[in-house]
Amino acid sequence: MKRARRLDEMKTTFGAEQVSEAERRGAVTGLFDRIAPRYDLMNDLMSFGTHRLWKRVMVARAVAHLGDAPGPVLDLAGGTGDIALALRRHLADRPIIVADASAGMLGVARERAGERAGDRLDTLHAPAEALPLADNSVALVTLSFGLRNMTDPGGALREVTRVLAPGAALVLLEFSKPAAWFAPLYGLHARHVIPRIGAAVARDRAAYAYLVASIERFPGREDIARELAAAGLTLVEDRAFMFGIARLHIAVKP
Ligand SMILES: C[S@@+](CC[C@H](N)C(=O)[O-])C[C@H]1O[C@@H](n2cnc3c(N)ncnc32)[C@H](O)[C@@H]1O
Repeated sequence: MKRARRLDEMKTTFGAEQVSEAERRGAVTGLFDRIAPRYDLMNDLMSFGTHRLWKRVMVARAVAHLGDAPGPVLDLAGGTGDIALALRRHLADRPIIVADASAGMLGVARERAGERAGDRLDTLHAPAEALPLADNSVALVTLSFGLRNMTDPGGALREVTRVLAPGAALVLLEFSKPAAWFAPLYGLHARHVIPRIGAAVARDRAAYAYLVASIERFPGREDIARELAAAGLTLVEDRAFMFGIARLHIAVKP
């Protein structure tokens, strides 16, 4: 599958299929509602647990970038809440909002937050492209493996810029374009192993085939840097995980 160069190219795709924007929104949200109860287990199996290491680095860098701006931390496309719960361990008193378009994923986040005293999280059922939050009101946005699933990823980045306080950061973790020598090996895992685990564990081969296709379609490093700049953000940090399979981008609102 051809990798997109611009985020706008993703607006009318669902995996390998061409669809309307409304169909994309419905298909993606429906998919996450369906797989929510198995999502965390599947992440561990598919990535052999490495996503936990990447997320640990992400959370440490997010905490380091939290400046003096008041206001909540927003974990956008926060899914089952793992980033928000990890942030809570570092930020005892800061309001933390987990926003997501899938009620099913947020339901799991609420259950997980209820398991330990002190794990307070607010949940917000809203699309990233139209957040019910005031301009300049958010102290930090984290966005982990969510951008490539948004209906309008470029619009979502512009919305992040709108709600961030001046000087505040977006900490973005997403799949990327692996190094050329590693790509064939990773391609085998992605195309043959992940959908089989999806079928066996989540009983949803199609959902995991979509996730793999969305990873293969998502633009690479330089294109994402350009999209962040176009949304009005300044890239200040960029690091690759596992030969470029995933990448952490940190960008600040001037
Ligand atoms: C792959 S999951 C990532 C969840 C979590 N952040 C993580 O790192 O494990 C992608 C999430 O994006 C959410 N999502 C998809 N489209 C969205 C949109 N337009 N607005 C907000 N969330 C969206 C999905 O519901 C899902 O929870």
